[in-house]
Parts: sequence; structure tokens; C-alpha cells
Amino acid sequence: MTVSGRSDLGTPAPAASGETVTLTIDGQPVEVEAGSSVMRAAAIAGTEIPKLCATDSLKAFGSCRLCLVEIEGRKGTPASCTTPVEDGMAVTTQSPRLEKLRRGVMELYISDHPLDCLTCAANGDCELQDRAGQVGLREVRYGYEGENHLSRGKDETNPYFTFDGSKCIVCSRCVRACDEVQGTLALTVDGRGFASVIAAGADEGFFESECVSCGACVQACPTATLTEKTIIDHGQPDHSVITTCAYCGVGCSFEAEMKGGEVVRMTPHKNGGANEGHSCVKGRFAWGYATHRDRILSPMIRESTDQPWREVSWDEAIGFAADRFKIIQEQYGKGAIGGVTSSRCTNEEVFVVQKMVRAAFANNNVDTCARVCHSPTGYGLKQTFGTSAGTQDFKSVGSADVILVCGANPTDAHPVFASRMKRRLREGAKLIVIDPRRIDLVRSPHIEAAHHLQLRPGTNVAVVNAMAHVIVTEGLVDEAFVADRCDTVSFERWKAFIADPANSPEALEADSGVPAQTVREAARLYATGGNGAIYYGLGVTEHSQGSSMVMGLANLAMATGNIGREGVGVNPLRGQNNVQGSCDMGSFPHELPGYRHISDTETRASFEKLWGVTLEKEPGLRIPNMFSAALDGTFRGMFIQGEDLAQSDPDTENVDAALQAMDCVVVQDLFLNETAAFAHVFLPGTSFLEKDGTFTNAERRINRVRPVKPPLQGLSEWETVCRLATAMGYDMSYPDAAAIMDEIAATTPSFAGVSFDRLDREGSLQWPCNEAAPDGTPVMHRDAFVRGEGQFMLTAYVPTEERSSRSFPLLLTTGRILSQYNVGAQTRRTQNSRWHDEDVLEIHASDAEMRGVRDGDLVALSSRKGSTTLHARISDRVPPGVVYTTFHHPETGANVVTTENSDWATNCPEYKVTAVEVAPSNMPSAWSRKRRERQQKSVRIDAAE
Ligand code: SF4
Ligand code: SF4
Ligand code: SF4
Ligand code: FES
Repeated sequence: MTVSGRSDLGTPAPAASGETVTLTIDGQPVEVEAGSSVMRAAAIAGTEIPKLCATDSLKAFGSCRLCLVEIEGRKGTPASCTTPVEDGMAVTTQSPRLEKLRRGVMELYISDHPLDCLTCAANGDCELQDRAGQVGLREVRYGYEGENHLSRGKDETNPYFTFDGSKCIVCSRCVRACDEVQGTLALTVDGRGFASVIAAGADEGFFESECVSCGACVQACPTATLTEKTIIDHGQPDHSVITTCAYCGVGCSFEAEMKGGEVVRMTPHKNGGANEGHSCVKGRFAWGYATHRDRILSPMIRESTDQPWREVSWDEAIGFAADRFKIIQEQYGKGAIGGVTSSRCTNEEVFVVQKMVRAAFANNNVDTCARVCHSPTGYGLKQTFGTSAGTQDFKSVGSADVILVCGANPTDAHPVFASRMKRRLREGAKLIVIDPRRIDLVRSPHIEAAHHLQLRPGTNVAVVNAMAHVIVTEGLVDEAFVADRCDTVSFERWKAFIADPANSPEALEADSGVPAQTVREAARLYATGGNGAIYYGLGVTEHSQGSSMVMGLANLAMATGNIGREGVGVNPLRGQNNVQGSCDMGSFPHELPGYRHISDTETRASFEKLWGVTLEKEPGLRIPNMFSAALDGTFRGMFIQGEDLAQSDPDTENVDAALQAMDCVVVQDLFLNETAAFAHVFLPGTSFLEKDGTFTNAERRINRVRPVKPPLQGLSEWETVCRLATAMGYDMSYPDAAAIMDEIAATTPSFAGVSFDRLDREGSLQWPCNEAAPDGTPVMHRDAFVRGEGQFMLTAYVPTEERSSRSFPLLLTTGRILSQYNVGAQTRRTQNSRWHDEDVLEIHASDAEMRGVRDGDLVALSSRKGSTTLHARISDRVPPGVVYTTFHHPETGANVVTTENSDWATNCPEYKVTAVEVAPSNMPSAWSRKRRERQQKSVRIDAAE
């Protein structure tokens, strides 16, 4: 239960059939969907039948026997949770017989329950307590002395929740939540009858078990057995605010449950369109960073980066930054400064930064961290479909028959969506995984990929072309769809190109390392297996051919008719919470909000009129161009919103040198991150708990982010930016964040129907939301592509220049892990680090043995760009010749070794392929020693004060 006291209808809604059934509950007629349970029908009619093992997020189980009812014409007292409704049924929910039976059941439960209600953490939020009251239990005739479970101990190993076995009623809601909702199957009921106990793994506690700490079991538990430690420490919440998770692009809705001004629990919101009541460990538990002692709450400045920081007023910090930027522009021209927007910030915060750059800086030197993740998605999907966004809502995966996961690791990076996907896979959908590494989805409880195409890093396009070749040459094209929906000239040209034997699986096998027969079988399955849905991640985009691969996947979907309805589509799984939104808001140097090219006179004119300025019509600099220009001495000032370029961008030494070369680096962030070591001005930012605005998730869903407390540092981020723009000479102000969204809606056609008022009324909206689509657009390209006809693009496979060599014989690829998030700035400041406190290098046993490396050894990882050290983990997840690491810890500096190679169309870095060598080591790298020295200088307060 939560403080909002959400209703629980007891059993889930039945599959929609359009049919209804009429029955009477205690004499009152009620009409419900066919397939509903009697319990659900009663709840809809307003009668709450007592229940313990039932809850409407789980299938009915029928174990507690508390929900008994009488049904006219039937013998006995059936359980209402497992009894389906029938037309004309007459149900009685209350009678002396039922009262007696229910009290008897409750008596048994209570006689084996510690009666410490007044000091129990669940006091006031316990279904067992509520049910005892509901059935009118007044005495326990059996006493409390018999055989019982009261001495069962506690498992406190999980950092976020406790399992107190003495309070368990073995209703198995936790086990079923783990199976049905999360799909991890970490819990079991051990033993039988009276000896039954809930177990997480054989002997180990929750922490060491398969449990991924999603918290679904805690939420499902009707007693205090599974309880959040924050609730044990602080007590029950007294009010709640609905908001959105600030981690990944799934965009889960939460009730931030508060006690006074502090959050005591984050409960996934049942009506959240993206998550429907589920969450992962990050969103549910890892929010403590928001009040971490490392947070900077005062603006700070310093003349040069070898000086300590000095705390100053907002006015002084903003004035200092504006003066420096103005001096740079006077000396080096107006194009000598620029800004970077953050995909962690709200749409409103991003919108004002790009507006500040365009209107106050008077150039288009604005880029976003999406440059280094999904910019090829923007390019590729716009070319083929006409808009830079995923085609489906998350629900759609429930109708997929074949799911192709390419270069994505949903169970780690998009866990709540992964749970939906796993549910569909357990129902029988087939899975194709294209990934150099054996991700969890390849084989997990009740799931096994039909095909794992374990390709060599850098050969995505070879594989997608080979699949398309099979589809074209084996007559598997959906000719009717292509003729009806696609540009046939581009199709014929593509068909001739892809049918060339050079694109056959056999011809490309040597490059990709994937057996031709496996490619053929996977292609046939995708083309003929029913609804085919593609989900992809950074393993597609972060390559020298990232844009080609996105277009290759789009070609595949169009050729097989897998676009424009439920269960199909091409879907980028966005990394950060607002990658979609930051791109939508005009963060790219060539595009105004809504992906309209800056060179378009009419679009420019509409903004010029509203903003009262003349806009530059030439695109500005991308992030890598800004760095190059900084090293050339022509680009000298940068405003960086919530983005740690020095940790997240490739070729760290080059990034460091570029930042060091600038005269004014302004960082707006929560913490003194790696980039702040090069900054002259630090403008403290707000956590998501203090933000008022919107995030747009991977399914184009615009969700409200509501403040649960005022900004701890005193100023909204958008206000800070407005004040900086004003100090630069361009008056910019808004009464509130809602007014910024009103401006977005007024200037951006796909957002025309969006406002805070509407979002507050309706919960969320998926763009396009305008006159043509007043209710938003869950599935795109239904009747026609946004660009009219789907465009097939040629995707010639060009091997990357990054090849293994004698000096660097291994290929490094990178990725994320569930418990940490990106550069780790947030999650490293939570208990999540207990699962992953350092980045390690996965290496195959044969490669390790050849180099004398043992499991756990410190190794030097070197490329032509640099060297770092980390511990090795021998793993068969990677094939020989491939090594893998995560990039969450700045001490490791995984990007010290990544290169300057990037996508041909968008400059998205080629993070996923770096030729490296691994060798045993006994000391930190030179880079890490340099970093330590820099950190020591970048102390917070002037020691002289
Ligand atoms: S831990 Fe909670 S949900 Fe699980 S069986 Fe025990 S009482 Fe039920
Ligand atoms: S926290 Fe999640 S994964 Fe762990 S046991 Fe509970 S439901 Fe399963
Ligand atoms: S899946 Fe993503 S959005 Fe949802 S709770 Fe986890 S991190 Fe947050
Ligand atoms: S609620 Fe129906 S048997 Fe438990």
C-alpha cells in the first residue's frame, strides 16, 4: 500500500475480449468484462472482499482462503479470487458462515505472527492488520504457545530492504512478483505445508542471490516481512508526489512518498504508462545521492583551474561567467563560445540552454550528450522514416512474435522494459540477439534466444546486410507493404545493392565471425515469424557506421512490413532519462526544436519573431569540433549543463587538453565532476526531486517531473540559465516552467497539444500530439510514414579503421551494468556501489592465459590513445579476441583508451570498438596519477578564507 491508498481490485484485468458479463454482488447488479474474477467484480461494485494472497498486479493464486464467497446454486464457499464471473451469477460476500470461516483463517495466521504491531515498521500499512480488523477478529483461541515460526531470523544483507522471516505468512506474493512482474525468478517456496519458507537462493541471503533488487517483492508483500530500510528508519510516509525517475530512458513514473520534506520511499506508480507499477533498483532505491554530502549548494568561481574554488553569490558567479564569455566573443568572435545540453535535465531546462546559445551567444554552437550516444538514431530514422524517434510504445512488445535485440542489454540498461520483454518471451515469442557478448537475455530462466549472432565488434552492418540479403534473395520481402508504403525507386535500388553476392552471409562470414547458416536462419525467422520487433541500443549507434546500421535495421523492418502496427517497429532504447527530449528540444547545432533544420528560412523566422533576434542560419559546432577548435585556439568558452565530458567522451587525454585550453568553462551540475576540474565557474544544479518540468522517454512519452522540495541551492536550473542569458545582454525570463513548455508547444508542431495542465490531467502524452493527433501517438507510421513513403537507404559495409594489430590484438567493447548509471555520478553515491564498486575487464580464459593474467589480477589496458589499469575477470561471456568493460568509475577512466574514430554521418564516437592489449600490471597508469593530482588542486573552498 502507498500513502495515496491506491485501489487494489484483487486480480488483474482480463485480456480484452469486448464481451461483458452481468451478475449480482450482494443483490446489486454489476457488469464487468468477461474473464474477470468474482473478487474483481465485487471490487468494481464497491465491495472489498477480504484477501491476503491476491493483488491485482499478480495472477490469482488461491492460497489464503480468506476471500471465500457464497454463490447461488453452488456448493461450498469458493475463493472469489480464482472464480471467474458468469452471466446471471448471484454472489454473497457477507454471511454468518463466511464471517466464521474468515475469522478462523485469520486466527490461524495471527496465532503464528509476532504481535508487535505498535512497534512494527508496517504499522498503518499492513494488510494482515487491516484484514484482522476487516473480518472482526477478536480472539485467538489457539494461543501463541504452539509450534510457530516466530524465531525465524532476519536477512538484512540487501542494502535497501529487510526480510524478517518471523512475519512471513507464506502467501507467495513475493515469489510471484519476482516471477511474473520482474522475471528474475530469484525466490522460491522451500519446504511443504507448515515447514514452507521463502528463500532467495539455496543458503545465501538476498545480496548474494540472483535477486536484482528491483523491489517488486517488497511492494507485493502484505506484511512487514519485506520492508524498505528507509521505512524502518523513518516510519510511514504522510503524503506523496507523482514524478518520473531520473535515470534511464524507460521513464518510470513514481510516487515519491514523503514524510514532511523528506522522501522515505519511491513507489512505482501503478498508472505510469511506461512502467505500470514496476521499477528497477536505481529508480526505487538509489535516490540518496540527491542529499549526498558531496553535493555543491553554492555557486563557485576561480580565476584559473590551478586555484581553489571560491564560494560566491549567484549574481557574482553569473556575472563572472557572462563577463568572461563577452570578453572571449569580443576578442575571438561570437563563434568562440558554445554550450552543451544534458539528457539528464528536463525538456524545459534543455530548451532554455539552446535558446541561450542561439539568442544570447548569437551562434548555433549547441550540442548535446546525445552526440555520443543516439545521434545516429536521429540521422538514420529521419532518413528512412522521416522522424528521429522510436516507432512503438513499450506495451507493443506484448504483441511481438519475434524480438530482435541488437547491441542492447535491456536487463542491465533498461530493466523495466526488459521485464516486459521477458514476459513476452516466456509467453513464447522468439528471440534473436545480435551482440559480441553473451548478454543475460541469451539464456536466463525460461528464456533462450533462438539465435545469438555473436559478431566481431565493428561488423554490425555486415550482419544486417547479410540478413537483408537473405530476405531479398529468398523471396521473403513483403511486396505488398513495400508497394503500398515505400518509395519503390529507393527500394529497387536497395534491392539490387543488397542482392549482390558481396552481401551474402557466406561472403561476410569471415569478417563478422557469424556462421552464414545462423544468419540465414535468423533472417528467415525475423521475416516469417509473425510480428517482428527490433530493439537496439548503443551497440548499434556507437560505431563508425552507426548511422548505416540504424538505416540497415530500418530497411529490414520496411522490407518485411514490420512497421506501423502493434508488435513491430524499430526502437532505440535510450540511455539517459531525457535523451529523446534533449534531441527534440533543438540541442543539435543544425536543428531547431522539433528537428527542423536551421537553414529553413520559415522555421527560423518563426523563432526570430518570438525571440526578437536574428538567428544564424549556418549550423554550429558539434562537441568534437568544439574540442578541435579549442585546441586550435579559436573556441575558448563553454557552458556545460549536467554532462561530464571529461569522463564520458572518448579519448580522454584529448578532451582534457581541449577543456584545459579554454578561458571559461562553466559547469552546471550536482557534484564537482571530472569536467569541473577544468572549470572556472560552477553553478550548482538541482536533483530530479527539486525539478519542475518534463522528461520524454524512449517511447516519446512526455512525463511530468514534479518537485517534492524546493531547489536546495536556491535556484531552478532554468532560472540560472535565464539569468546568464540576461547577463549576456539577451533578456530571458519565464514566470515558471509551465510557461517554457507553452513556448515549446507554440513553436514545435509535434508538441502543439502539450501543456503542464494537460499532463497533470492525463498523466502523460506521446508526441506527436497536435491537431492531427490530439491524443498523442503511441505507435507511429500507422497509415503512412512521417516522410510520406518509407525510404530505403544503401548501407554499404565499410570495415572500421580500428583493427586489431600485433601491438593491439584484442578488441575492447564497452557497456553498462544494472546497478550503476553512466558516469556513476549519482549511483556511485548510493548503496548501489555494493554491487559494483569498480569497473572490471572481462577477458576470455584463453586470452588471459596467453598473457599470464589470472582472475582478479590488476591489468594494464592499453590502446594507441592511452592506458589505464583495472582488475581482470575471466569470463566466457566474451569470445576469444574480445574484452569488455563498463565505464561507470572515473578512477578506471575507460575512455582513456577509446579513440577519436566516429560515425561518418554524426560524429558519434566509436566507443564499441577499440584495438587494445592487456598485460599484468602492479601500478596505476600515468593518466590516473595525473588525474589524482588534478583532483587535489580542484578543492572546494579557498583555504585562505
Ligand atoms: S515475504 Fe511477504 S509476500 Fe512473501 S510470502 Fe512472506 S508475507 Fe507473503
Ligand atoms: S527484489 Fe526483485 S529480483 Fe529481488 S527477489 Fe524481489 S522481486 Fe525478485
Ligand atoms: S528502468 Fe530506468 S526509468 Fe525505470 S526505475 Fe529503472 S532506471 Fe528508472
Ligand atoms: S485472496 Fe483469494 S485465496 Fe487468498
